[in-house]
Amino acid sequence: MLPRLRLLVAGLALAALARAAAPTGEPVKLGFFMSVTGRDASFGEAALRGSRLAVDDLNAAGGIFGRPVELIVEDNRSLPGESATAAKKLIARDKVIALIGECASARTLEAAPIAQAAGIPLVTPASTHPKVTAVGDCIFRVCFADPFQGAVLATYAWRNLGLRRAALLIDSTAPYSVGLADVFAKTFTALGGAIVASQKYSGDAKDFRAQLTAIRSTQADTLFLPGYYVAAGLVAQQARELGLRSTLLGGDGFEAPQLIEIGGTALEGTVYSTHYSAESKAPASRRFVTAYQARYGSVPVGLAALSYDSVQVIADAARRAGSTERGALKKALAATRDFPGITGRTTLDEHRDAIKDAAIMMVRGGQCVLVDSIRP
Ligand code: PHE
Repeated sequence: MLPRLRLLVAGLALAALARAAAPTGEPVKLGFFMSVTGRDASFGEAALRGSRLAVDDLNAAGGIFGRPVELIVEDNRSLPGESATAAKKLIARDKVIALIGECASARTLEAAPIAQAAGIPLVTPASTHPKVTAVGDCIFRVCFADPFQGAVLATYAWRNLGLRRAALLIDSTAPYSVGLADVFAKTFTALGGAIVASQKYSGDAKDFRAQLTAIRSTQADTLFLPGYYVAAGLVAQQARELGLRSTLLGGDGFEAPQLIEIGGTALEGTVYSTHYSAESKAPASRRFVTAYQARYGSVPVGLAALSYDSVQVIADAARRAGSTERGALKKALAATRDFPGITGRTTLDEHRDAIKDAAIMMVRGGQCVLVDSIRP
């Protein structure tokens, strides 16, 4: 194309964008409930950042049916009970068309029956427990589920890391932790590995020394901790203090910018699985990483990317339905196929679960580095 002509085409495209960029009228409300403060605040922050970026992108492109999209945020402070209250408020008071939340399976499981009873679609960016979407036909997830994640981790530990003796350290108060440990143990033993210890802790624990001392005597070569980043960081430190050399292994709950802040050099060699890596070369992901960094000054974690995709998947369903009415929206969401997002293509299966690759990360030199990507 001639340079002049190319300029003209670019100019016209920009003008079209500018015309699209003025949504008016009654806002379309999306309800967002998450751990913005409290123990898991790093999750809430990442999810909120990703969702806000998506809402701004939607509004810059004309909103939904020319109406502005508004994100209504409820903070559950990482506390039990609060997510149910948040879902009720968002549905009854704010009249949201859909809910986005939570990250932790335990908290999504609190809100899901409320969304289901009201017939309001709920899209969880990152809750991986199988029971979450089993609550009913209004509950969707844009991430993989733990039967996949647990099998990926056990297989990776056995095949790629050559690990043979696993100790489990389980948060007995979190369905995510209990469920992921179970799948891991089944796959690991089926491959020929041994589960040499199974210790428990409860969500807010800060001192893991008793459990770690018991594990030390079993000569486990890996310590599998299906927990969240605060526990992961503390366990890493205390394990090293006690002279435990086992490879620390975890799931998506490890991924947070605060992980390294809490665990420091004790985390070196730790391996965990997650949903996405900012190192992805896909053009959509690159654009997202650039925009995210420009706005927030940090690299997005998987949860931020999944939260961005959650908002966009809802907008896409509304567009296909030609409506924001709950029944039509639910039907269109269930028919989501190959939706191109930041975390790859989202296709929802008959259980309303997404089928996605798992990224394997390793802590090296104080950085979380992508070492592998596993297809379903
Ligand atoms: N998958 C975890 C759960 O279901 C939550 C989580 C997802 C945490 C992604 C961090 C990042 O409880």
